[in-house]
Amino acid sequence: MSLVCVADYETKAKELLEKSALGYYASGAGDEFSLKLNKNIFQKYRLRPRCLVDVSSIDLTCKVLNKTFEWPLGVSPTAMQRMAHPDGEVANARAAGKLGSIFILSTIATTSVEEVAEKAPNTTKWFQLYIYKDRIITENLIRRAEKAGFEALVLTVDAPVFGARRADMRNKFELPSHLSLKNFNGLFANSLNGDSDNEISGINAYVSKQFDPTLTWKSVEWLIKFTKLPVIVKGILTKEDAILAKNYGCSGIIVSNHGARQIDTVPTALEVLPEIVKSVGHELTIMADGGFSNGTDIFKALAMGAKMVFVGRPCLWGLAVDGQNGVESILRILKQDFEKTMRLMGCRKISDISKEMVVHESFYAKL
Ligand code: FNR
Repeated sequence: MSLVCVADYETKAKELLEKSALGYYASGAGDEFSLKLNKNIFQKYRLRPRCLVDVSSIDLTCKVLNKTFEWPLGVSPTAMQRMAHPDGEVANARAAGKLGSIFILSTIATTSVEEVAEKAPNTTKWFQLYIYKDRIITENLIRRAEKAGFEALVLTVDAPVFGARRADMRNKFELPSHLSLKNFNGLFANSLNGDSDNEISGINAYVSKQFDPTLTWKSVEWLIKFTKLPVIVKGILTKEDAILAKNYGCSGIIVSNHGARQIDTVPTALEVLPEIVKSVGHELTIMADGGFSNGTDIFKALAMGAKMVFVGRPCLWGLAVDGQNGVESILRILKQDFEKTMRLMGCRKISDISKEMVVHESFYAKL
């Protein structure tokens, strides 16, 4: 049977992945209420298409941080991609480049910044940063990403500790022994190093030992001064924090609940976009991720003011099914579906997408 949508790839990937890796990739925090919401939220918003517009030729290009992209979808940072396929991050980054998408490399990747840069030279790459207790480790990472040609730093601000992911606890999740965290070769920080007093999952124990939980907006100030790259903060869910990001000089934000892996019962990006766009939309580049799997999902976030959206798990499913080809298929499916949505909505270019084209379901209930 042909795999024709993200859900088909997800089903297939779940048959192929080893239990512990699947648990790590698929799980959310707690009861996984927000994980389900990330998917279901898109159905709570309805599209209002416009007819009789000449859509014989359309333009999906968009501009983010002064650079033009083929279309407004990129690849979110996800850790340890070589559990899905031996080519891991390199395959994902190459596929992103082929389809004109930004690739964000995770700090806790199973391939180094240098290797990804060398093997995916034609991809626009951003580096996702976790700040380590050992500031020298962090400073080295930033300089290496700058040197390797990464074009922005994405500081993840929603992870002073990792959320309670029950699958990882049940599986006592560890990185398979043939893999390591390649950005830290030769350092203690290169393996998950077993459990700790408070954490059963290997990844959570690692984070508690290594990540700096004392970070504040002062750390963002430090980072912006330290690096020559634009700084984007990822994991913002309130207008209050969006305003702080703007005031501290960030170049953009990714509105994200971290794939529902941090705190359960938080809202989705789609729900908080309106308050954030209203407060800082004119001054800051606003992007979003979490649960996107259809062209209509992308369209809805853009109508609400996001300039770019990202997908995490869909690319992992593609990777697990067929390496770079699988990720290319996922991105192609999303691109074609988004293109079709644009035509059916009567939009010829991204700036034709308007707020009025998407309404909450309550709009019709009131009629
Ligand atoms: C993530 N995410 C994540 N975020 C981050 O800033 N650094 C990281 O290393 C990771 N690692 C990671 C691993 C896995 C397996 C997942 C599923 C997610 C969060 C990620 O960047 C993104 O916010 C979500 O994945 C978006 O939701 P979807 O597209 O997966 O639904």
